[in-house]
Amino acid sequence: MNWKGIFLAFAAALMVPSGASADTIKVGIVGPFAGPFALAGKNFKLGIDAYRALNGEKVGGKIDVEFIYRDTGGPNPAKAKALAQELIVKDKVDYLGGVYFTPNAMAIAPLLEPSKTALVVFNAATSAITQRSPYIVRTSFTMWQNTVPMAKVASAMGLKKIITTVTDYGPGIDAEKAFKKTFESLGGSVPESIRMPVKTTDFSPIMQRIRDSGADAVFAFLPSGPPTLAYTKSFIDNGLRDQGIKLLTTGDVTHEPDLPALGERALGIRSTYHYSLAHESPENEKFLAKVKEIAGTLDEVNMCAVGAFDGMHVIYKMIEATDGKRDPDKAIAAAKSLDWKSPRGPVRIDPQTRHIRQNIYLREVAKKNGKLINKEIQIFADQPDSGLAPTQ
Ligand code: PHB
Repeated sequence: MNWKGIFLAFAAALMVPSGASADTIKVGIVGPFAGPFALAGKNFKLGIDAYRALNGEKVGGKIDVEFIYRDTGGPNPAKAKALAQELIVKDKVDYLGGVYFTPNAMAIAPLLEPSKTALVVFNAATSAITQRSPYIVRTSFTMWQNTVPMAKVASAMGLKKIITTVTDYGPGIDAEKAFKKTFESLGGSVPESIRMPVKTTDFSPIMQRIRDSGADAVFAFLPSGPPTLAYTKSFIDNGLRDQGIKLLTTGDVTHEPDLPALGERALGIRSTYHYSLAHESPENEKFLAKVKEIAGTLDEVNMCAVGAFDGMHVIYKMIEATDGKRDPDKAIAAAKSLDWKSPRGPVRIDPQTRHIRQNIYLREVAKKNGKLINKEIQIFADQPDSGLAPTQ
């Protein structure tokens, strides 16, 4: 952001006199609402709508909340920054939420402190994001949080030699590092780490390299959406499964909307993740029943809905703690001590990192009532984001 931009944002913030309560709190939501990743935006909105339907349209029964949605498309930091700036300066939002892609979160972060705007990240998963501004809280997951358990699982499965394949940007690089570091510390080896360009659509050459490496298994991360489906299909179609090579992933790669297109050939694929639609709890049942009522189906629901649902919980609590006044320091302080029962399980905001601590589950693609699901088979309780504290 240039200095003019910072000044404009700051001036806009000053237009809401501190101490004055607003009648309506405005929340700007940025995410992909069109294009190949539109499913993520759709899930953000579903999570928000489900939360409001279950917890009231007014915070504490008295403060109105208005939502303004803006489409960032794919990973596009310049666009994300321009949209966030416009939301802050022109629309005068009190809070920002959403953000699917890491580069977009990184681009928005410098706008927050000068304009005194708190951001709740519903998805973007690179560890460093919450360090880019003290006004960021995250309710999704990090790659370290989800990947460390997978490296432990791989070791417990007796696998010795694993190749990693990740999308070549923030979360992919975090996932690669987390897997290699953990797996090697447990005595395994990672002879090759392939970084795939963000725009890759043909994964056959990658599959050939995996086959040629002679590895027992491949660990994969790609951002949920068209790339994950193309990668997993390619893994199966190129015969790697039939050859006995194991596919180990974070749940991004087996997010539920991909499963019908993969079909029974996906049965048994293992992933580690913070949320499965098949998670068995009263909170998840209630959440999914409401989502189904709103969307008419659960076929397009993924982790972004729960990231947004919990993100709304944090935003509601911040509005309550500040009684509708614009006071991001007080709001963030309130967010730091939150713990609650999410549809994914028990969660809390780590006051040091402002990132969510949660259970990570080992899951396996299984069939239930004729539908493919991510069946939870093991729990790694209360996982931190070890990407910010490499010794944990
Ligand atoms: C990210 O850009 O941080 C990101 C996007 C999609 C995912 C995971 C992480 O599935």
